[in-house]
Formats: sequence, C-alpha cells, structure tokens
Amino acid sequence: MLEKVKAKLKEYDQEHLLKYYDELSDGEKKALLEEIEATDFDVLNSLKNALHAPKRGVITPIESMELPEIKEKEAAFRAKGLEAIKKGEVAAVLLAGGMGTRLGSDDPKGMYNIGLTKEVYIFQRLIENLMDVVNEAGVFVPLYIMTSDKNNDKTVKFMKEKNYFGYNPDYIHFFKQEMAPASDYEGHILLEGKGKLATSPNGNAGWYVSMHKAGLSAQAIADGVKWINIFAVDNVLQRIADPVFVGAVIEGNFVSGAKVVRKVARDEKVGAMCLEDGRPSIVEYYEMTDELMDAKNEKGDPAYNFGVILNYLFSIDELERIREGNLPLHVVEKKIPYIDENGNFVSPTEPNGYKFEQLVLDMIYEMKNCLPFEVVREFEFAPIKNKTGIDSVESARELCKKNGIEL
Ligand code: UTP
Repeated sequence: MLEKVKAKLKEYDQEHLLKYYDELSDGEKKALLEEIEATDFDVLNSLKNALHAPKRGVITPIESMELPEIKEKEAAFRAKGLEAIKKGEVAAVLLAGGMGTRLGSDDPKGMYNIGLTKEVYIFQRLIENLMDVVNEAGVFVPLYIMTSDKNNDKTVKFMKEKNYFGYNPDYIHFFKQEMAPASDYEGHILLEGKGKLATSPNGNAGWYVSMHKAGLSAQAIADGVKWINIFAVDNVLQRIADPVFVGAVIEGNFVSGAKVVRKVARDEKVGAMCLEDGRPSIVEYYEMTDELMDAKNEKGDPAYNFGVILNYLFSIDELERIREGNLPLHVVEKKIPYIDENGNFVSPTEPNGYKFEQLVLDMIYEMKNCLPFEVVREFEFAPIKNKTGIDSVESARELCKKNGIEL
C-alpha cells in the first residue's frame, strides 16, 4: 500500500504528505495511507482552471416576483403550498456542514446561543420557525440536516440533548457531506496533523449527492417528497417550507425558486439573480461591473436588484436529473490550520490557502427555470456570519427584536 500511495503522491506532486510518516504509530500510518488513497486529488486541477477561469456567459435580467404581486395572490399561493405540505410533498434540508470560521466558535454554528435573558440557540430559532408551518399545516415537515465530519457528532448530540427543540424526531434525519483537501497557495495539500490531511467540507452544493449516498433521497422519493427547500443555518429569521413560496413556485410551473431580497445598495455584497445565456443564474457581487449595476430592466428598475439569501426550493425530479453531472469546484481563500515544516501546529489569523467548494449557484444554473421570489428583508433575513458588525450576532439580535422574538 505504501508504494501505491507514494506513486499517487508523486503523480500529484504531494510527496511532502509523508514527511512525518516514520514518526507515526502503526495505526496512524495505516489511517494516513488510507486517507491519501481515498482523497480525490483531482480537485487541485481546479486551481489551474481557476487561473484560466472560463468567461461567464451573457448576463441578462431575470424577472422576479415582487411583493405587490405576491400580496395580491398570497391566499391562493398559501392554499396551494399548504396542500403540498399536507400531502408530505415538501421536505427541508438544513445546510449545517459549514465551518463558521468567521464566527470563531469551535462548536457547530447552530449551537451558538444568541439569547440575552434566556438560551436561544440558532438551531432552536430555525425549529421554532418551522414549527409555525407545522402548526399551520397540521403535519410535520421532514427535516434533513446536513453536517460534516467536523461537526456531525456534536450536532447530533446537541439536538438529542435539547430534545430536538420540540420537533418530532421521527421527521429529522442527519447526513454528512463530503470533504475535500485544502492546500497552500502553491497547491500543496496541507497537513492538519502529522498523520492527517487538512480537509474541509466541500461547499454548499454537494448536499443532494451526499443525501443520495446516505440513501435519504431514495427514502424521500419513496415517501412522496416532490420539493426540497434548502436553507442556511445562519439566518435566524429563516422562513422554512414557507407555504406562500412553495405555492408560487408550483402555481407558476417552475422547477425551482429562490427567495430574494431587494438590494439596499447597487454594490451590496450579495449575489443577484440573473439569466446567463438564457439560463437562471447568479451574478456574484464581485462580478458586478458598473454597467451591470446601472442596467435597467423592461420596467425601468435596476436590472440586478434582487439578492439571494440561500433559501431555495428545488423539484426533486430536477435534482435527480442533475445528480450525476459534475458541478464545478470553486477555489476559495480561507484560514486553514496546519502543521508547519517544523511539525508545529499553526492556527492562522489570516487566510493562508485554498479550499475547494461546490456552490449552490451552479445548481441553479442547471435548473430549467427558477422563480426569484421577493421577501421582506427585515422579516426574513438576519444572517449571522460575524461576531460583531455587519451580518453579526448583534445585527441579528436587533432584527429578532423587531420581529417580536424574545431573546
Ligand atoms: P458560508 O458560506 O457562510 O460558510 O455558509 P461557513 O463555512 O458557514 O462560514 P465561514 O465562511 O467559514 O465563516 C453558508 C451556509 O452553507 C453551509 C453553512 O453551514 C451555511 O449554512 N455550508 C457551507 C455547508 O453546509 N457546507 C459547506 O461546505 C459550506
């Protein structure tokens, strides 16, 4: 096995990964060799590809469904959405595999307590919001929780200890996402221990493949699920399996939908919905040129004015259709703890390398169509990315207060 691994490392110019091999115990040696064998080093190719990134297609505006229209049709959408929920056709997937490095807690993000006078955990807030729908529909919505190798055990234990915050555990299923190796700026995979590669969760778009590998998508299909609502762990005002949103997507014969908020500034740092070569897509804030920022749509409004909030609805048939296709890997600069050349563990305070992630925007691009569905930011968008400042625990607390949520 050692010879085989050495050959693989040579091929990918990663021979440094065995630098501490002789210092390891027999068990550690075996584990390291197995890990190297199992790791897909082809992800490193995306580093080369990123430097010659293919140009984006032609970006044009996409029509969003805006608040006045939603208000007018709300009752019909709600009835349609509730009908699907009652039939068990709508499931939710909580994306909780991220590392939450910006928040700087060692625990999974959902375990963060934002309470002031009592305990209010992020997971608790999400379950409370979902319970609104459960109470309205009179049925539990199947909730799949995606974790990663790094936070699975803590997440599962915490949820059990907290009695799933009152949710029916028969409707909660956990699965782990895949991991990808992380590298330094030269493309050398980092070691996080003398016998362990630095790995990180592979982004927020691998969830359906991971769900499939865990046998859970087959189970969902057998149970009659037709729609999956995915959402980020860190938005404490997240409306989950929102009947009005679900109803609007079904009524409009769409195969997917994206909750969006009106941007507060033309250069706000959110991805905006668009069409790319006629297909639904997202233009990232750093790709927004002056021309795009000033562009107007047919109504004379800013053309790329609706930002995504990581709350999407997908038809399960469409997810099955695209499951086998490979989504591109994005190269993301991050802080990656590692073992330096002297064998010391370093926890960097600045980004020091690359992680490789699949992003959900590429899933949207694979969809036949997508309905951008406007929601009121103050009621539905309170992301927690940082401890203080923008998108922080502080700003989320303020927004919770505005929504009458006791903390
Ligand atoms: P972010 O892009 O904010 O990443 O995730 P993060 O890892 O949580 O935080 P930072 O960047 O390290 O501070 C957006 C959502 O996608 C999920 C996160 O859990 C969050 O709900 N996510 C992200 C995954 O589930 N897996 C991933 O690999 C990455």
